[in-house]
Amino acid sequence: ALCVTTAAVAQDYPTRPLTMVIPFAAGGPTDVLGRIVAQRLGEVIGQQVVVENVGGAGGGNGSQRVANAAPDGYTMVLGTVGTHAQNQTLYKRPLYNAETDFTPVALLADVPIVLVARNDLPAKTFREFVAYTKANAAKMSFASAGSGSASHLACTVTNSTAGLNVTHVPYRGTGPAMQDLQGGRVDYLCDMISTAKAQIDGKTVKPIAILTKTRSPALPDLPTASEEGVDVEAYTWNAIFLPKGAPAAVVKKLNAALIETMKTPSVRERLAGLGAVVVAPERQTPEYLVSFVKSEIEKWAAPIKASGVQVE
Ligand code: MLT
Repeated sequence: ALCVTTAAVAQDYPTRPLTMVIPFAAGGPTDVLGRIVAQRLGEVIGQQVVVENVGGAGGGNGSQRVANAAPDGYTMVLGTVGTHAQNQTLYKRPLYNAETDFTPVALLADVPIVLVARNDLPAKTFREFVAYTKANAAKMSFASAGSGSASHLACTVTNSTAGLNVTHVPYRGTGPAMQDLQGGRVDYLCDMISTAKAQIDGKTVKPIAILTKTRSPALPDLPTASEEGVDVEAYTWNAIFLPKGAPAAVVKKLNAALIETMKTPSVRERLAGLGAVVVAPERQTPEYLVSFVKSEIEKWAAPIKASGVQVE
């Protein structure tokens, strides 16, 4: 018979290359982590995993594309706290429902965010940065990976907590945003440690503070904003989502392959070097990701509302 049951299809899965949509520009933190994961996932699952960068709308465009794709397990998105939590509150009309338009597969990593400034900005500490920015706010701007991205929200909550009112310049990812920061065309950026670290080490940008509760072993000398008197917390995470309605057997197979991928010593080593933290096994299940997305949407709603920032 030509009729194939979904169970049989899931058993063979995957029989052709997979696509991992990175909802940001190449060279940014989601892209860097995504390419490390995609390469090893391809080996583990026995089919190539092709990375496709679809930027715009703070990661909303690429995520929406996956929400609308066939739920057959061949098109996945590497989501973030921005694309699958923060933008749900930030946008007056979100492009999709992060809870109901996707099938959560696995949370991969937690990633701290650092505030970096152009090299010639006259401030060395976070306290000096706040004082300088207060005095010069009218002529300053900060860059982000687009409205509703983690980099946007990190600077938004920092600005609102520290009392800074600065113009926002959105890009299609922090990759291009970082280039303009290095060129001095914007004043600061809240970037993920995974791409900021190389620029800090190379002295092409100035580190101001890390926005997590504790310092990172990847940048141990960089103080937290809280140590400098401003109590903010901002971070991102990366997780794999399929479109809603993906077969349970496909989710199970992809989840197992992702867990295997994240166990790989060379993957762990590279991610640790970037300052990304692979999540503990109990946080790698699809069920955990369902509840985590829900709690992250709730967690971020209050600070986003308090910031007064909304995207029409
Ligand atoms: C963000 O959430 O700001 C993105 O991860 C940035 C990027 O990958 O370019």
